[in-house]
Amino acid sequence: MLEAPKIDMAAGNEAIVASALSKSFGEGETKVTAVNGVTFCAHFGEMLFIVGSSGSGKTTLLSMISGILRATSGTVRGCETLCATRACAERC
Ligand SMILES: Nc1ncnc2c1ncn2[C@@H]1O[C@H](COP(=O)(O)OP(=O)(O)O)[C@@H](O)[C@H]1O
Ligand SMILES: [Mg+2]
Repeated sequence: MLEAPKIDMAAGNEAIVASALSKSFGEGETKVTAVNGVTFCAHFGEMLFIVGSSGSGKTTLLSMISGILRATSGTVRGCETLCATRACAERC
């Protein structure tokens, strides 16, 4: 039987660290807050799932983590390692 890989949760083994990530679209009456203050840490070898109903912000969150979309506020560390281009890395 296959054994689950051991994940080193120690400080320094973080692949992605997201802090207070938020993203809004539009302004005023049409403003939509798609992601509101998400904080998490993913370690190398760790498997995480983003679950939620349609429209809950999964794609927006992944887009910020991968550097496709710039966050309205908050930070993502480790994002630049997922980027294939300099333009993408500069959005992280
Ligand atoms: N480019 C956009 N412009 C305006 N609203 C958007 C945009 N992208 C997503 N939204 C809105 O943000 C919310 C979250 O969308 P999304 O991240 O696609 O959710 P999910 O992937 O969980 O279905 C929804 O209300 C959606 O309509
Ligand atoms: Mg989606």
